[in-house]
Amino acid sequence: MNLKRLILERIENRVLVGTTMFLGIMVLVGWVAINEPGRMAAFQQEHLARSIEKGAELFTNNCAECHGGNGLGSGRAPGLNNPQLFGIDFFAPIDSAIADLETAQADIAQLHATLDGDTSSMTADEKAGLEAQLAAYTDQYGQDPAAAIQEQIASKQAERQALQTQMQGAVDKGYNPDQPSRLGIVGWNGTLDAFVHTTLIAGRPVSSSYWPQPMPAWSQTAGGPLRDDQLGDLTNYVLNWGANRAWTLEDLLAVNQFAKIPAEGGAAAVEGVAPEIINIQFADVTDRRADIDASVQRVLGELESVTGDPNNGQTLYNGALACSSCHSNASIAPPTEGTFTRINDTRLKDPALAGYTPEHYLVESILIPNAYISPSTYPANAMPQNFGERLDLQMLADLIAYLKSHDEPDPLAAN
Ligand code: HEC
Ligand code: HEC
Repeated sequence: MNLKRLILERIENRVLVGTTMFLGIMVLVGWVAINEPGRMAAFQQEHLARSIEKGAELFTNNCAECHGGNGLGSGRAPGLNNPQLFGIDFFAPIDSAIADLETAQADIAQLHATLDGDTSSMTADEKAGLEAQLAAYTDQYGQDPAAAIQEQIASKQAERQALQTQMQGAVDKGYNPDQPSRLGIVGWNGTLDAFVHTTLIAGRPVSSSYWPQPMPAWSQTAGGPLRDDQLGDLTNYVLNWGANRAWTLEDLLAVNQFAKIPAEGGAAAVEGVAPEIINIQFADVTDRRADIDASVQRVLGELESVTGDPNNGQTLYNGALACSSCHSNASIAPPTEGTFTRINDTRLKDPALAGYTPEHYLVESILIPNAYISPSTYPANAMPQNFGERLDLQMLADLIAYLKSHDEPDPLAAN
């Protein structure tokens, strides 16, 4: 009988242990589940912090020389640590207060006009309702609400004027108080993140016309030195200047230089970023002849209304776009010298190019290099295939004007 009791006790113990363990596991699972979002967020936070740290180092090494060590800008590039880049409108609170006051003012005038007019068609309740609304304004603004509101509007406008005066220092450095948002100025509809990232990828070749040097292209895909994860780190670093920050007027005044708006052809030039880009992408086009012809014809048509500037073309060719890095060495690419002569005397004699004009050949060679590979020793894919994604029409016209000026004898013809 003792034995029986012992066995029963054992079983009870085991059930107890089992139950306890089960409950324990449930509590643990529950705890983990509850904390998972928190741990995830903490993990992401940490990841972002590390990315920003890497971005800071990249910025010091690559960007500070133009954008300033603390991103406040210099004579060579606009400030990025800058309320304008983050779209901060310092007038917004004042303007919305003025708008509210003006609404109240108009409302009061309307109520008076209605009550002073012919009220015979109104029910007593309707009339009492309107009078109650007027009384509420008197409660809020005093015996003569219209006058009180007028006074408040005037004081807000004086406040606005004073703020504008305090901004003068920034205005002198290129700030326009009427255009508080950089993205608004360039008509960018995407996120700031995408704006910064794409600017980094492709650079702003056209900005050479209003800055000492253009914003370079940084992505390896565009011939630059940085990997995409590094561009991501830099983007995170730049965006971190605006994260959880209450921007003050002092921040605005600390900016050394604001973005410039090119005086002429402004919008098009600034938008080297996206919409004006010709946007032709053909990685491998050999069997898509009809597509190529249609695209090139479109571009040729659009080019008719653009006048190329050979000097600017030369600057692009030797500078921002680095065409000359290949085309100055005949063993790498056809030499720049005599390009136009070569096209007329040699290339266009090739039956494969029957019906081509020199412009047609130039546009195709630059935007879709693989469409026709110059004979002799030059290989396909040696010329970057992405100029169609980097150039706008003006840049293309400038390049063509520059290459057309190379009508001296063709050194390749001598061979
Ligand atoms: C040789 C000087 C130079 C260097 C180096 C340079 N930039 Fe720029 N950057 C410019 C100029 C000039 C502009 C203005 C372009 C324009 O107005 O279209 C610019 C514009 C920008 C913009 C867009 C700002 C705006 O308001 O449109 C960003 C973002 C930017 N640069 C980030 C960087 C980062 C990050 C680096 C380092 C990887 C860098 N830049 C290195 C010259 C430079
Ligand atoms: C990385 C080297 C490289 C760069 C950079 C480069 N090219 Fe080329 N380019 C070549 C090679 C190689 C060819 C010959 C093979 C071919 O036809 O694609 C060529 C061909 C051409 C041709 C045809 C020339 C002929 O004699 O038939 C033109 C025009 C041209 N490039 C213009 C440009 C322009 C403009 C730029 C800058 C926007 C540029 N290239 C940048 C390598 C380069």
